[in-house]
Amino acid sequence: MSTLDEIERLKEQIQEKIGHAPTLDVLDKERVDLLGRKGALTALLRGLGNLDPEERAVIGKAANEIRAAAEALLEERKGELSAQALDQKLAAGRLDVTLPGRVTPLGAQHLISRIRDEIIDVFAGIGYSVAEGPEVELEFFNFTALNHSIQHPARSASDTFYLHDLSGDTHAGSEPSEVVLRTHTSPVQVRTMQHEEPPIYILAPGKVYRRDAADPTHLPQFTQMEGLVVDRDITFADLRGTLDYFVKEMFGKDRKTRFRPHFFPFTEPSAEVDVSCGICDGSGCRFCGNAGWIEILGCGMVDPEVFKHSGIDPNVYTGFAFGMGVDRIAALRYDIPDIRILIDGDMRFLRQF
Ligand code: PHE
Repeated sequence: MSTLDEIERLKEQIQEKIGHAPTLDVLDKERVDLLGRKGALTALLRGLGNLDPEERAVIGKAANEIRAAAEALLEERKGELSAQALDQKLAAGRLDVTLPGRVTPLGAQHLISRIRDEIIDVFAGIGYSVAEGPEVELEFFNFTALNHSIQHPARSASDTFYLHDLSGDTHAGSEPSEVVLRTHTSPVQVRTMQHEEPPIYILAPGKVYRRDAADPTHLPQFTQMEGLVVDRDITFADLRGTLDYFVKEMFGKDRKTRFRPHFFPFTEPSAEVDVSCGICDGSGCRFCGNAGWIEILGCGMVDPEVFKHSGIDPNVYTGFAFGMGVDRIAALRYDIPDIRILIDGDMRFLRQF
């Protein structure tokens, strides 16, 4: 093949391979093969030295023209392929604004927290504030200051979760100093009385723990709401009026309350309070076990012994206290027969509220 033929063939190859390279990668490979230092065109130019001067001039000129044309073609094809690649990228990333959006589920307050806040709202409306205390509590605040004798059954390890003994010594006659998971929020009352001067009007909400097996009406951990009033001339009539008001705000104006005598170590006299059944209105049905009434809380006048432990003069002040289970109030409010379902975390149940 003559050198001119070779040049013709190279020209065709360049047209074909560079002009029609399908991708930028292929284009680059062709550039190296045809125009690179070890490429076809360079090889051809190397052969020029063997030609006679006239031929060399002709071929040299033609070869230079080919290089110039090839480089122009290369740029052109590069431009085309880059534009194509950009178009493809844009098409792939196109946003269809007519597609339905993704819905992020919204969280909501748990039923127990909501009822807790509702109870707080009722009492905040008549001047109560919220007080809080530790869930891991000293036995002193949980029992001793609340007038539980050393033998009181609630102190037993089968009723109360004990952590460890802070002092290292056991009960051998000395003041017990063990650490418990609080069994009620009454210790918050003692802590508050130790630090504040009357008048005191507080609510103590929070988690409490008891060594109970879970059943439809008990949980080993539940939420309690206690209240405490300490002021001059507070009587049982104030307690009655306050709880009556609370029940009507919480369950409806038509609901009645009933006080039954009871015993608590920290109040004297003490009572349990029932609310008239909302299903049968007091005539008796399955929901209230045919009683017509449902027990909702314990209460009483603060025992002078508790005042003494708390640094309050029982000759000057009197007061009342009450305590209720928030879970129970929630169950009553929504006719929930088994309170375990409140803490199962079953969204099908929780979403209803
Ligand atoms: N602390 C009592 C309980 O947990 C409730 C209560 C509080 C009763 C205040 C009377 C007065 O059962």
